Amino acid sequence: MTQDELKQAVARAAIDYVVDGEIIGVGTGSTANFFIDELAKIKDRIKGTVASSEATAARLRGHGIPVFDLNEVESIAVYIDGADEITGQGAMIKGGGAALTREKIVASVSKRFVCIADGSKLVNTLGKFPLPVEVIPMARAAVMRRLAALGGQPRLRTKAGSDDAFITDNGGEIIDVAGLQIADPKALETEINGIVGVIAVGLFALSGANVCLLGTADGVKTLSF
Ligand code: 5RP
Repeated sequence: MTQDELKQAVARAAIDYVVDGEIIGVGTGSTANFFIDELAKIKDRIKGTVASSEATAARLRGHGIPVFDLNEVESIAVYIDGADEITGQGAMIKGGGAALTREKIVASVSKRFVCIADGSKLVNTLGKFPLPVEVIPMARAAVMRRLAALGGQPRLRTKAGSDDAFITDNGGEIIDVAGLQIADPKALETEINGIVGVIAVGLFALSGANVCLLGTADGVKTLSF
């Protein structure tokens, strides 16, 4: 099976976690896009969605699925999203698609986090995928020095084909930190959260996934945490 077929399989399996009549939190990225396309087939069963990015909101609306502002919503039944890496304990690196802050916000309001990922995302130790950190632009250099002191190699994310900084939906910039071997994800998340100028770090360990649907050649495996 190709990686896209594995992503499609987990997206389909995630439909079983959708709660009828409720609001569903929807993540960002290629796996989440497959999920949105599956959700469109059962859109009449749900009240609507909250999106973790402008791109996701546009895709949902394109399918005629209602998208609510989070401020209009009291609770979200389930949040369904991909990951860049996930451990056997449900800790994740996210933010490859630059939506980490809104992803964390929507996940924090959701009763359950269902991660959908192809098998290549399962790791023993987080950190091979560079850790995304969203920052207030004026704090960029100061935060990069602090991240380098933690042992990583921070690099400003730029727009494709340009030296200009990539700007997030929130007006922030993204620093990708390579070279980290994250032995204690909760401790590192706490430490980076404490750096002034950081909007959010793409470590989801203090509050990780509750379930991971992992696409493998032997079918979709369900990991519960
Ligand atoms: C976006 C994310 C995505 O969930 C993550 O990058 C995985 O993306 P994909 O499903 O395309 O592999 O965190 O900010």
